[in-house]
Amino acid sequence: MESRPLRKVRSFVRRPGRITVAQRRALETLLPRYGLPYEQRRLDLDAVFGRSAPRVLDIGFGDGEALVTTAARYPEIDYLGVEIHEPGVGHLLLLLERAGLENVRVIVHDVVEVIEAMLPDASFDAINLFFPDPWPKKRHHKRRLVQPPFIAQCERIMKPGALLHVATDWAPYAEHTREVLAQSALQPVAAQTLAGDPLAERPPTKFERRGERLGHVAEDLYYRRPPASEPA
Ligand SMILES: C[S@@+](CC[C@H](N)C(=O)[O-])C[C@H]1O[C@@H](n2cnc3c(N)ncnc32)[C@H](O)[C@@H]1O
Repeated sequence: MESRPLRKVRSFVRRPGRITVAQRRALETLLPRYGLPYEQRRLDLDAVFGRSAPRVLDIGFGDGEALVTTAARYPEIDYLGVEIHEPGVGHLLLLLERAGLENVRVIVHDVVEVIEAMLPDASFDAINLFFPDPWPKKRHHKRRLVQPPFIAQCERIMKPGALLHVATDWAPYAEHTREVLAQSALQPVAAQTLAGDPLAERPPTKFERRGERLGHVAEDLYYRRPPASEPA
């Protein structure tokens, strides 16, 4: 019998989406400057950014509003954004050019594959997962990004002591995140202990404001990879 390749369950559905002329132009002219191609090879992130600095991974940055706001506020931190929605990437690129930022790089590809193939062990100080698609129907829960194998991959690329920051305004997704993270080696961190930490910052986005108008309340969940144990 002919064997068929396994169909992968993805956390997104490719939507053609409306793309503006300016966003299309940005993808053509600015992606060569800010973008990194998807490759089955681990990146040398110091070489990518031209320095060794604290590093944040922004998963599914949407239109990039929060990413650009924090990157502009903290030029001493490097940011890698991964997103599959091209109009959003185009929007981010236009914002990056306008702000003249040099501390952001972008990969336009499924983050699950990017982490697995391209990101080295213990290479990020923080991972941001802001408002992941909630996939509310039970039969779609397997599409949620927060799953034990994905969290294990996140843990692998986090430096000891690094932070995972998940924000959601869908209460069942917060509950799901708590359940999945409880099975991981990452440890919950109280938000109050992180006040003033640039790595824990989350500027509001258009997406969040739309949710607020619908009565949704955003929740921020923080987890830390345990620091390396002291030598005996
Ligand atoms: C609900 S939006 C949130 C956008 C943004 N983080 C914010 O807070 O406004 C979720 C985003 O995740 C992106 N996304 C979903 N699955 C992804 C994946 N596997 N790889 C990369 N991006 C993904 C979607 O394209 C979408 O832009």
